[in-house]
Amino acid sequence: MTILLKIQSSLYGQEGASSRLADRFVARWQDQNPEGRVLVRDLAAHPLPHLDQARFQAFRTPAEERTAAQQELVVTSDALVAEIAAADEVVLAAPMYNFSVPSTLHTYFDHIARAGMTFRYTEQGPEGLLTGKRAWVFVTRGGLYGEAHAQDLYLRQFLGFVGITDVNIIHAEGLAMGDAVREQALERAEATLRRLLPDPVQAKRERNMKYTAPSRQIPAQR
Ligand SMILES: Cc1cc2nc3c(=O)[nH]c(=O)nc-3n(C[C@H](O)[C@H](O)[C@H](O)COP(=O)(O)O)c2cc1C
Repeated sequence: MTILLKIQSSLYGQEGASSRLADRFVARWQDQNPEGRVLVRDLAAHPLPHLDQARFQAFRTPAEERTAAQQELVVTSDALVAEIAAADEVVLAAPMYNFSVPSTLHTYFDHIARAGMTFRYTEQGPEGLLTGKRAWVFVTRGGLYGEAHAQDLYLRQFLGFVGITDVNIIHAEGLAMGDAVREQALERAEATLRRLLPDPVQAKRERNMKYTAPSRQIPAQR
């Protein structure tokens, strides 16, 4: 069974622009994958604890050597790693807050960056272990920054570090620049989404049209 993991981080919950775009994506994905399973992680509703020294030390301690207290500290991180490892596709709703991703999403990344589990160091450098997945990232912003902004680079770098290199980032920018700009940006993001994940019924209709069009023209020319 195909598994899609949706991770959202808007402090507006389901009403956030990034969450809404991610939801549109999930709805289309479900049309295409009726047997698929969708897991939802809402980082704003259920924020994770910040990484501190004790937690990081527990991450670094081999499982068989951990104290009971350390074992308790790794439980959440272990579950988050297992969750994303099981997913075939990851949808990330990542608004821009103060020129970066929400701190809740940054903290989530701190929890899933686990040496030996999601990446490992080799003589050639770090190697990501969460391979074979696709990620779809919905970035929403009040202003205009473009694809070269540090937020994009950060998201691609982190996902690549843990082995997720097939990454589509869909932007909706200028959302605080008046209704017209906002509507246009959201419509453009949805058009990109429709292009990336075509409606299966519509796509079939278009394929059939392409196939039947020439044969209809031939008799008319004779
Ligand atoms: C706390 C906070 C910080 C923000 N910082 C920025 C920013 O640095 N740059 C920007 O373009 N927009 C900023 N915005 C605007 C959001 O990016 C914009 O409202 C976007 O739609 C948020 O996505 P969401 O609705 O999914 O939460 C900020 C919004 C909030 C609530």
